Amino acid sequence: MERLVIEGGRSLRGEVLISGAKNAALPILCASLLTAERLRLSNVPHLRDVTTTLQLLARMGTQVVVEEGECVSLRAAEIAEPAAPYDLVKTMRASILVLGPLLARFGRARVSLPGGCAIGLRPVDQHIKGLEAMGATIRIDNGDLVAEVPRLRGARVVMDMVTVTGTENLLMAATLADGTTVLENAAREPEVVDLANCLIAMGAHIRGAGTDTITVDGVDRLHGGEHRIMADRIESGTYLAAVAATGGEVTLRKTCPDSLDAVIDKLREAGAHVSVDGDSVHLTMDRRPSAVSARTLPHPAFPTDMQAQLMALDCIADGTATITETIFENRFMHVQELRRLGADIEVRGNTAIVRGVARLNGANVMATDLRASASLVIAGLCAQGETRIDRIYHLDRGYERIEEKLSRLGARISRTRSPT
Ligand code: UD1
Repeated sequence: MERLVIEGGRSLRGEVLISGAKNAALPILCASLLTAERLRLSNVPHLRDVTTTLQLLARMGTQVVVEEGECVSLRAAEIAEPAAPYDLVKTMRASILVLGPLLARFGRARVSLPGGCAIGLRPVDQHIKGLEAMGATIRIDNGDLVAEVPRLRGARVVMDMVTVTGTENLLMAATLADGTTVLENAAREPEVVDLANCLIAMGAHIRGAGTDTITVDGVDRLHGGEHRIMADRIESGTYLAAVAATGGEVTLRKTCPDSLDAVIDKLREAGAHVSVDGDSVHLTMDRRPSAVSARTLPHPAFPTDMQAQLMALDCIADGTATITETIFENRFMHVQELRRLGADIEVRGNTAIVRGVARLNGANVMATDLRASASLVIAGLCAQGETRIDRIYHLDRGYERIEEKLSRLGARISRTRSPT
């Protein structure tokens, strides 16, 4: 297994080119199942989760061509079996995103039930409830969700909570349903809007994406098309938080500033100067950060996927911050690892109280999930001495060439094999 070794305590300076968004790419790749024609996507990030999704689509019979320049062409003309097997689903929960498209186009689907995962229970009851409201019968057979319907029909679906992939699954399913579907309490995340834009380019009739009510008039068929995946707002926020924590200066290129408001607000509160120019964001930080409190909520509020990174900054900030996680019930696993670097964090229920310390010290730590890993990288960059992060395969699921991008900013970071 591989590990990252970071020699911390240096400020960062330079530019970062932001990659395409993982959480937009995954549903959009699955949207290729809605048509027999070719869907050509650009700005597709090189990430483990993207590779897993491409494997899953190829296993079903989709022709996948990976081209130069982060482009992927997909053609799901003949799908041998509309099924997502356990060996792929178990490594990536987002595999559930094939359920809606398969059912909508083929009238049947078998998708292995995603289990719990490190950051919480994460059930899929809302996906099921919505598809049932659209006429599907769904049962569990041998650990698989088995769904059937002659043709989905439009329905009004009120989701019990805001769910991102739940909204995306139902949105994709509704594009080929008979009649109009209204999704209420829909997720407003920018990745949902990106998916909707891709579906519209494929001929879907969708209104209201980006609001909490999305209306879809079903059509008989979708056609192929082209779409550029939006920039990754969480990757962007991670680099901004890293430089706000270490001090220095960074310019993000090809990012999506409009989707970063809540994160930028917090970093300004911490003392950073942030300016936006077109698709670039510039941040400078010339002092120790002030502690900033946050509460995670669905978009447009502060994202749960940035909670761990903000906590890393708070570890070395001046003052005490409280960070409340309201989306996932078990998303503080980075806390015990941050403590190994000398952080002073107390957890009470779903709130972490972070008392900033003057310095962190390098140590051996273990990545536990994707964003937790990012917080350890930030903390390692701030810590004096050497930090070794094991199990970085989590990081590779969501960050493209992170050590290369950080090295360009002047970080001392390298990837080595960890002793087994
Ligand atoms: C997506 C993102 C993930 C992000 C999360 C919240 C992708 C591939 N992943 O995950 O990076 O952290 O949004 O912004 O886009 N829930 C249910 N029943 C359901 C569905 C969800 O109870 O049927 C609960 C979950 O357990 C969780 C909350 O709703 O507590 C939000 O989950 P959801 O928005 O669905 O997260 P994901 O879509 O899995």
